[in-house]
Amino acid sequence: MSLSQVDCLTSLPFGTWPVPFFINGMTGGSEKTKKINETLARAARATGIAIASGSQKAAIKDPTLRDTFRMLREVNPDGFIFANIGAELDEEAAKAAIDMLDADGLQIHLNAPQEVVMPEGDRDFSSWLKNIERITHSIDLPVVVKEVGFGMSRATFRKLMDAGVQIIDVAGRGGANFITIENQRRDRSRFDYLEDWGQSTVISMLEAQPYLDRATFFASGGVRHPLDILKGLALGARAIGISGTFLHTALTKGSEGLIALIEEWKQQMSQIMLLLGCRNLGELRRTDLIFSGAPEQWARLRGPRLEEMATRSQRNS
Ligand SMILES: Cc1cc2nc3c(=O)[nH]c(=O)nc-3n(C[C@H](O)[C@H](O)[C@H](O)COP(=O)(O)O)c2cc1C
Repeated sequence: MSLSQVDCLTSLPFGTWPVPFFINGMTGGSEKTKKINETLARAARATGIAIASGSQKAAIKDPTLRDTFRMLREVNPDGFIFANIGAELDEEAAKAAIDMLDADGLQIHLNAPQEVVMPEGDRDFSSWLKNIERITHSIDLPVVVKEVGFGMSRATFRKLMDAGVQIIDVAGRGGANFITIENQRRDRSRFDYLEDWGQSTVISMLEAQPYLDRATFFASGGVRHPLDILKGLALGARAIGISGTFLHTALTKGSEGLIALIEEWKQQMSQIMLLLGCRNLGELRRTDLIFSGAPEQWARLRGPRLEEMATRSQRNS
């Protein structure tokens, strides 16, 4: 086959994206973060990829902060933008976050490990599932429930799907680590021993295997290059979110540097598809996958059957 036959567009419940990766939720709420949002939004517009806002909670409470988020839409009027709130907020807050950005979808983040390690963090998560259920049923746009870098397990997927959630971003361990970040703010009673908490992105996607027909999965957490993107897509994710790696480039090289990186990733992704002999993401999802190390050990205890994944091209081609 030839490179010209490769197409990486991804089908989602709400349409198709030409590029199967996006800038995941990060920031807003101060003058400095307004500038960062401007840089990220410029890159999203120039490259045509979707972008998610950081948590808009502060601006829902304090309208003077709205323009730090609004920047995402002003710079990128026609792009796909996710609004973002935490699961502690209700439908009214969800609608306010969406209106603030004229958003095309909503992310609801789950960050219990971060809250527990934050001295001033929340200790009561009992309203979260109810809020998620109400928001999912009252909003007509795609709703994604995501972690923030600790991954998810089957028990969580089942609860979310039962609550009506159709899109789940596993946001696994391996990249930005909020337990490490919050520990650095504590001078005593640190939770250093929790820094390995959670499921890696690969393990979270192994947990997702039985549910790939019931929900749409996004994968994120620790994605550093196009091969990581393809691994997530081969594991069944329909789109891949990138935060830390893009933020670093935005801060060090500005929007021009980030645009160049994203364009390079798009090209390299297609080139690796060519190496794999895959013309589209459906074919990539049927390539054989060989696991070793921690994911292999995990799957031996909880499934899926790795022998089947290692030979899946023979059954589904
Ligand atoms: C500086 C920073 C701020 C973040 N803020 C948010 C946020 O407000 N809302 C959210 O859902 N996730 C937030 N995240 C989490 C990311 O969306 C993502 O889940 C996590 O960083 C793992 O991806 P990564 O390894 O590509 O960074 C933030 C991440 C970073 C690095």
